[in-house]
Amino acid sequence: MNTVFDTATLREIVAQWRRKGERVAFVPTMGNLHDGHISLLTHARDLADRTVASIFVNPIQFGVGEDYTAYPSTLQADQDKLTRIGLDVLFVPNLDELYPAGMEEDTRVTVPSLSSILCGKYRPGHFTGVATVVTKLFFSVQPDYALFGEKDLQQLMVIRRMVDDLRIPVEIIGKSIVREADGLAMSSRNSYLSTEEREVAPIIYRTLQKASIDVCAPGADFRKIESSCFAHLQVSGFKPEYFSIRRSFDLAKATNQDRKLSILTAAWLGTARLIDNIQVNADD
Ligand code: PAJ
Repeated sequence: MNTVFDTATLREIVAQWRRKGERVAFVPTMGNLHDGHISLLTHARDLADRTVASIFVNPIQFGVGEDYTAYPSTLQADQDKLTRIGLDVLFVPNLDELYPAGMEEDTRVTVPSLSSILCGKYRPGHFTGVATVVTKLFFSVQPDYALFGEKDLQQLMVIRRMVDDLRIPVEIIGKSIVREADGLAMSSRNSYLSTEEREVAPIIYRTLQKASIDVCAPGADFRKIESSCFAHLQVSGFKPEYFSIRRSFDLAKATNQDRKLSILTAAWLGTARLIDNIQVNADD
């Protein structure tokens, strides 16, 4: 595997592949790779002729006081994992490479509406930071396919919308959430949990599972389910930000008429902000 630090070299490599008619799949990450990332990467490798991953901890998607400086960095271990998977190129740009005008002055990409609800309400500017960096990475790599996890469902929807609106010629592929044996969604941030918190953490998924059954009951009161699940997380030791039943189509608040639902939650446990979601088809 070739590790590349600058956009010019990356583009040269990708251009050579393209001249041979090879298709390129891309997986953007912030590193500290776990099995959730690995499932995206192996799928990418099986899908296309060539696979590129990036590792870049993007400062502009972190808010003031968030964990940008604490974010775990494990480049050597990540490189070893990627080599074992059989990746072609790892792109590791530095700040100047992606923000040539400096972080404050640099162009921003914003997807309205979707970016201001749910996580966007609690992390203002976060999805603009994500949309901006993913646009830059797409223009650097110019992939045919890009793969994202449903773990960050709202992020996936922001990116789909951005690609549609900006007419970026890339096919976005979403992949299901990879979980630990006890149901906790894998995340780099799980490493912030103490031993005791780690034991409590799977309650977040169990609460989502219970809600996914409750919403299918005839005459289910969605708002009541939301508030009782929120309260259940609170008494279990979490500090929830939201627990919300949405329609999958656009993440607007769901009513009983909606059949395809996404139930999403974000909750703090100690210093870890955990997010998770579950998809429900109320017709099944
Ligand atoms: P990061 O958190 O490193 O995640 C990279 C990709 O892995 C994302 O698409 C995310 O949804 C996916 N992923 C993380 N945990 C997963 C799990 N348990 N199961 C399945 N997929 C999982 O998301 C980001 O980085 C950044 O915001 C980024 C898109 C790279 C832009 O900076």
